[in-house]
Amino acid sequence: MSLTPTPADKFSFGLWTIGYNGSDPFGGPTRPQLDTVEAVTRLAQLGAYGLTFHDDDLFAFGSTDAARQKEIDRLKQVLADTGMIVPMITTNLFSAPVFKDGGFTSNDRAVRRFALRKVMRNLDLAAELGAKTFVMWGGREGAEYDAAKDIRAALDRYREAVNLLGDYVTDKGYDIRFAIEPKPNEPRGDILLPTVGHAMAFITTLERPELVGVNPEVGHEQMAGLNFTAGIAQALYQGKLFHIDLNGQRGIKYDQDLVFGHGDLQNAFSLVDLLENGGPNGGPSYDGPRHFDYKPSRTEDISGVWDSAAANMRTYLLLKERAAAFRADPEVQEQLAASRVPELSQTTLSDGESYDDFLADKSAYEDFAPEEYFGGKGFGFVRLQQLALEHLLGAR
Ligand code: GCO
Ligand code: MN
Ligand code: MN
Repeated sequence: MSLTPTPADKFSFGLWTIGYNGSDPFGGPTRPQLDTVEAVTRLAQLGAYGLTFHDDDLFAFGSTDAARQKEIDRLKQVLADTGMIVPMITTNLFSAPVFKDGGFTSNDRAVRRFALRKVMRNLDLAAELGAKTFVMWGGREGAEYDAAKDIRAALDRYREAVNLLGDYVTDKGYDIRFAIEPKPNEPRGDILLPTVGHAMAFITTLERPELVGVNPEVGHEQMAGLNFTAGIAQALYQGKLFHIDLNGQRGIKYDQDLVFGHGDLQNAFSLVDLLENGGPNGGPSYDGPRHFDYKPSRTEDISGVWDSAAANMRTYLLLKERAAAFRADPEVQEQLAASRVPELSQTTLSDGESYDDFLADKSAYEDFAPEEYFGGKGFGFVRLQQLALEHLLGAR
């Protein structure tokens, strides 16, 4: 297995990731602005296949039509020169002061109407550039104070917005699906649709649920103390994994956006194993972009930016290699069987077994001996996990 990224690996990066200038709430930029043409050229050289962006990453908020078009044309030229594509586009509804109480769910109706128009304009651009996924991260859709936001009204307005956008892409014939990106907090004290589970429940209330899935980000679920791999498994189970944001996070704290694998490495291993080996016949379970949404640390200069971009891809490929070795190890296969992992795929009732048949089966209850589970019939999950860890460490 090659550790050199190629376009077939479908690695993509946000323009705002490598373009992050290092500013945080405590200090200003530590790096100059990165030009779009340089960003795309360097990413292509490193083996990525895609660039994603918010409208405001490409052209500043409030740009004239001419300035906006100039940046779009420069992007199109460098895409043509490098063979890079734009698999996903997203809209910035969080940086400008007008969005301080959100976009789709601002208490101020005029702001909501402006936000929707900004998104529709960006949808036209997504269609023009051939982007198939439109991410919606509602970073400012939320509140700090319970009395300040009528949550049910806000969800109604969120729903109204996504329904309208669904009508728009359908009527326009755009080949675009939406992916909601959950996050529990930051920049708001509490954000609406805070986890993958909340977002998937919300999607069932929409008029065109088939058009809408999720874009889970590693760190965002981990900020809520959740198991990212388990959340991704449920998104796959419900056919809703439309896109994914890979990065690293160390525990329940501010959104770190570290390099993929630089946070919870064991969970990153199980994630890559799920994405690459969790599908039918042990193949991939997800075929979309492997999108990195990270921030090169504030301490880095431009060479550190490109080192960190390469590190995301290399770590993914290393984990893919390690996960393949884990699956191919006969001892792992033996332990999986001993741990009865495949047995969970057997239905609990037999084919055609009615509840009357079931009630008549004495082996299920009357003759079953639950006491045998005290001191016996262990599952061996610890040994299985140690085998995984040893593969992850390259010890096997
Ligand atoms: C974050 C978010 C954002 C979104 C992006 C897409 O780190 O808080 O991930 O980076 O993914 O803005 O709209
Ligand atoms: Mn993040
Ligand atoms: Mn993200």
